[in-house]
This record gives sequence, C-alpha cells and structure tokens, in this order.
Amino acid sequence: MATLTTDGRARVLNDGNEMPLLGLGVWQVKDGDETYNSVRWALELGYRHIDTAQAYGNEESVGRALADSGLARDEVFITTKFYPRSRSGDPAAEAEKSCRRLGVDQVDLYLIHWPEDGPTWAWPGMQQAVERGFAKSIGISNFDPGEMDALLAEAEIRPTVNQVQFGPFKFRSALLAACEEREIVLESYSPLNSSDLGDRRIQEIAEGHGRTPAQVLLRWVVQRDIPVIPKSVRRERIEENGQIFDFDLADEEMEALDSLDTTGGTDGAQERKWW
Ligand SMILES: NC(=O)c1ccc[n+]([C@@H]2O[C@H](COP(=O)([O-])OP(=O)(O)OC[C@H]3O[C@@H](n4cnc5c(N)ncnc54)[C@H](OP(=O)(O)O)[C@@H]3O)[C@@H](O)[C@H]2O)c1
Repeated sequence: MATLTTDGRARVLNDGNEMPLLGLGVWQVKDGDETYNSVRWALELGYRHIDTAQAYGNEESVGRALADSGLARDEVFITTKFYPRSRSGDPAAEAEKSCRRLGVDQVDLYLIHWPEDGPTWAWPGMQQAVERGFAKSIGISNFDPGEMDALLAEAEIRPTVNQVQFGPFKFRSALLAACEEREIVLESYSPLNSSDLGDRRIQEIAEGHGRTPAQVLLRWVVQRDIPVIPKSVRRERIEENGQIFDFDLADEEMEALDSLDTTGGTDGAQERKWW
C-alpha cells in the first residue's frame, strides 16, 4: 500500500501490509452527521486511518465521508471489527456486509472485537474473509496472551494486530512484550479516555514542549511505534491530536510517563471484561 499518512509514518504488519500509526476512532460517535463530519475533517487534516466496528453502527457514515473525501481508496486504511456476540454471525458474511455499508470492496483490517465464547471459533470465518477478498489483514482485540496462543495454535493466517486499551495509565508492558514475541502489533485504544489529562506530571511535560496533555499522551504511544486511534467529534481536537509527529519526548519524560501505569505492567488485555 502507498504511503499512508501525511508524514508517511506507518507500521509494517506481519503480512507485509502497512498501518498508519495515527487513526481516528469513531466509537460512540453518532451515525449520520456526527460521524460523517468527524471522518471528513480527519481526512482533510491528513489522517489516513479510520477505526470503526460493526457494533458502532456508523459504518455507512464512515463510507460516505470516505467517498466524498476525494481520496483514492488505497490512500486510507479502514479497520472494522466483527461483532462476536453469541456466536450468531458468520465473520466472512458480516465482512461482506461491512464492505457494502462502507462502500468499499475490501477493508484493510478486520478484527474480532473481543474473545466472547472463546478465542478460536470465529477465526476460520475471519480467514475466509481474507480468502474471499473482503479483508486485507485480520487480527484480534482484547485478547490475553493465553487467548493469543490458543488462536496461534490453530491459525493458518496469523493475526496481525491485537487492539487493546493502552496508554501511560494503562501501560500493559507484559502484554506489549507478549504481542511483540508473537509478531503481533499491539494497537492502542482509549489512549485519552483511560487517562487523567489534568495530571500535574503530564501538564508539566506538556508545558515544557508547548504542547497539550493529549498530545503528550498520544506522542508517548507513537514514539513506541504503536498505532493509536484517538476519538474526537471536534475539528480542533482532531487537528490537535494529529500534531504529534513534530516533537520528541526525552527518555526521562518517557520514563516519567511509564511510571503513571495503574495496571502493574499487566499482560492482561482488559480488567473489566464486558463479554
Ligand atoms: N476494540 C475495542 O474494544 C475498543 C474499545 C474502546 C475504543 N476502541 C477504539 O478506540 C477509539 C478511541 O478510544 P475511546 O473513544 O474510548 O477514547 P479516547 O480516544 O481515548 O478518548 C476520547 C475522549 O477524549 C475526548 N478528547 C479527544 N481529544 C481530546 C483532546 N485533544 N483534549 C481533550 N479531550 C479530548 C473526546 O471528547 P470529544 O469527542 O468531545 O472531543 C472523548 O471524550 C474508539 O473511538 C474506538 O475506535 C476500541
């Protein structure tokens, strides 16, 4: 795939596909104008990666914004996620429906949203989504190391990504190491939501760089070469969140942010499993 962000910062996945480090998340963004505008603004401002899901109910609005952006399909990386509730859906058939709603032939990344009812049952259907051309890469979300291993033992196509809650306050360092050992890219969700933007230590670092606390938190993630997908429905914040590739945090600042972790460096993907 061509260079995917304005500054070309992307992570190469274990299948050779490239994922831009910065994306816009659209969880809890209302279908219709709210999603359409957020995605249009993000694409205007140089984002080349959008993260949606079947469960978010806004794929159609994402698709309209993508179509109206005037960008070529291969310039934008689109992730959607299989909704795994009650083993009710067929992942490949649901991928086809997602593509139709998004107005694309293929999504760039298709994730199992969470390992409900076990980590392996949906994978054959995920692989079929690739074989039938609806997904370029496939991966997982909210998987612990044991769940990754169970999946890897059966997978013919390896998962490329594990999308988990991750940021300075949720610095799951053992999970990050477990993903790296398995050549699975950890992707960060809720980098701001799980954080205290008013924390004095973050504010001090931000002031030192003439930046905002949100930019410092997001910079901490991408400086580790980890993809991140902050959500905002406000144009000025979408712009602010994108301005994270033109400054560096010093080693001691990275370490100070590491120490904000509240997970004890866990290898667990989620403390409050909702499935
Ligand atoms: N795989 C999963 O299970 C899973 C779970 C959760 C999230 N995700 C994905 O990850 C994305 C991001 O996670 P998230 O939506 O939970 O949270 P987030 O992006 O960490 O934070 C979003 C919140 O922060 C606010 N915000 C955004 N930019 C800001 C800024 N510069 N300054 C101050 N506040 C700011 C937003 O408000 P405004 O919108 O009003 O600006 C919103 O309340 C989701 O949209 C979704 O795509 C995936």
